[in-house]
Amino acid sequence: MEDTTIFYSSVSLLFLIFVFKLWFQPTARRRKNLPPSPRPSLPVIGHLHLLKHPMHRTFHNLAKKYGPIFSLRFGSRLVVVVSSASAAEECFTKNDIVFANRPNLLLGKHVGYNNTILTQSPYGDHWRNLRRITTIEVFSSIRLNMFLPIRRDETKRLLEKLSRSSRKGGFFKVELKTMFSELTFNIMIRMVAGKRYYGDDVEDEEEARRFRKIMKEATSYGGASNPRDFLPILNWIDGGDFTNKLVSLSKRIDEFLQGLIDEHRIKKAGLESTNTMIDHLLSLQESQPEYYTDQIIKGLIMVMLLAGTETSAVTLEWAMTNLVNNPEVLEKVRAKLDDQVGQERLIDESDVFKLQYLQNIILETLRLCPTAPLLVPHISSDNCTVGGYDVPCDTILLVNAWAIHRDPKLWDEPDSFKPERFETREGETRKLMPFGLGRRSCPGSGLAQRVVGLALGSLIQCFEWERVGDEKVDMTEGRGLTMPKVDPLEWPPSLPTKGQEVKSTSPTTSTPQKEANDQMDHDQIQIHRDPSRWLGIWMWLWRCSGGAWCLGLASGLRFSSSRSFWIRFSGGGSGGCGR
Ligand code: HEM
Repeated sequence: MEDTTIFYSSVSLLFLIFVFKLWFQPTARRRKNLPPSPRPSLPVIGHLHLLKHPMHRTFHNLAKKYGPIFSLRFGSRLVVVVSSASAAEECFTKNDIVFANRPNLLLGKHVGYNNTILTQSPYGDHWRNLRRITTIEVFSSIRLNMFLPIRRDETKRLLEKLSRSSRKGGFFKVELKTMFSELTFNIMIRMVAGKRYYGDDVEDEEEARRFRKIMKEATSYGGASNPRDFLPILNWIDGGDFTNKLVSLSKRIDEFLQGLIDEHRIKKAGLESTNTMIDHLLSLQESQPEYYTDQIIKGLIMVMLLAGTETSAVTLEWAMTNLVNNPEVLEKVRAKLDDQVGQERLIDESDVFKLQYLQNIILETLRLCPTAPLLVPHISSDNCTVGGYDVPCDTILLVNAWAIHRDPKLWDEPDSFKPERFETREGETRKLMPFGLGRRSCPGSGLAQRVVGLALGSLIQCFEWERVGDEKVDMTEGRGLTMPKVDPLEWPPSLPTKGQEVKSTSPTTSTPQKEANDQMDHDQIQIHRDPSRWLGIWMWLWRCSGGAWCLGLASGLRFSSSRSFWIRFSGGGSGGCGR
């Protein structure tokens, strides 16, 4: 009898627990007011089947249907996509700390030293320390000014390269993408290690080739759209192939970066520079070896190279494309340049700050073509609300800056390239977010604006750029984290014929003395209209007789150095391109 009572009591208790759960669980679920989501979310893969490149366009289309805050499932992970300025602001003001983390993705795990590098590191003391180091060692005004000669020299080399080709007369199809990548990679690697790895004047070709290969591979991975990050079963299906590739890449990167550090540590003979980021970090290592480990230094170098190069190169490419597609803007900025800088000297960074219209062109390029259209993925470290919706802890946040920059509620004629909109700067620039917002926003924006401003200003000042025919240069975006153009512009590299090389007197690597010389060299660069005065040691960027045109074929731009400029390189006439 007693047994029966116990049995019935137990069953009743279980039943009560069951009813209790049934009653309360749906309420709890109902209380979770998640952002709207497309239906159906398929078993196992969720909404991964909806992801089509370019992702920012796919998300923009979904936002038209589900609103500016919607949610998706990437496998089992919840993802919230935000496409309005007000929601983005809410994420990075009220919820800034909650979203200050990064999701744990395969790339960060295997290549980013187990998510300890600045871009991937979780929010906390380690991340704060890395931000502090980069602010002092790379992004402070003192450091940016110290590295100015490098930016000048690399920009000058770009001009030389273009002018060498234009000496053959006529106009040329030019592959700007590669040239801009070379420019930004060389600037960065010279700041970091005092070396050049791209272009003609490379000291160790084998080392440079290794570096280029590694960087190409590293930049081909990225973003938050790798299905393997969300469906671990895929790694099992491909036999771990993808993971093995990442592990192999990370080994090669690590070996390469360690080599650079060791070289500086033993002050390798022939290494000219002692004033690089590596040297500064090694000095810190001497005083605080437990924190400034080799791994921390390698991580910082990697971040500078991966986050600070393609972004600026792609921005330059988009800026040039926008200019040739809008020749009236090009004419206007050239007139302003002639007016404010003139043709007696080459534009310098200090001019760029004063050339408001040039700055507006860069802002307008970043508005229409933000190189990180979905910023960099964030993840919530706590429950929070955005736009009245619940966002649970551990949700990936993607902000569609591309869509926000084209929101007709925010911008007049949102799809038009109109730098004039920033003439009333205050209000308009605050609506932009190409560098992100909040505490995880880009620390390199100042450096990027300097690199892009000087290169773009110089290209406009020294060459004529035009489109062939009426057809505009294709603006379609390609795949990749940095929103490249789908159609990289091609230029068959034409080697200078013997006796035509331009030998720059500028050093390849930087030392304080050489940087000072560099500074002098730049001050002495002149643009002149009378060739007879500068024969031999000056580089001639001349007007081609038919004048004025460069142009875009369906797949490219062409240029011709049709302006009557002479650029003088001081300090010796060893080379020159005298005709
Ligand atoms: C036009 C050029 C550039 C653009 C458009 C750009 C854009 C961005 C964006 C959108 C983010 C992510 C913000 C977020 O998480 O919401 C970011 C992060 C970052 N950028 Fe840039 N960037 C550029 C150039 C640079 C340069 C030149 C450097 C360094 C040399 C750099 C270093 C970084 C770093 C280290 C982060 C990660 C910050 C963190 O997680 O705390 N960027 N950038």
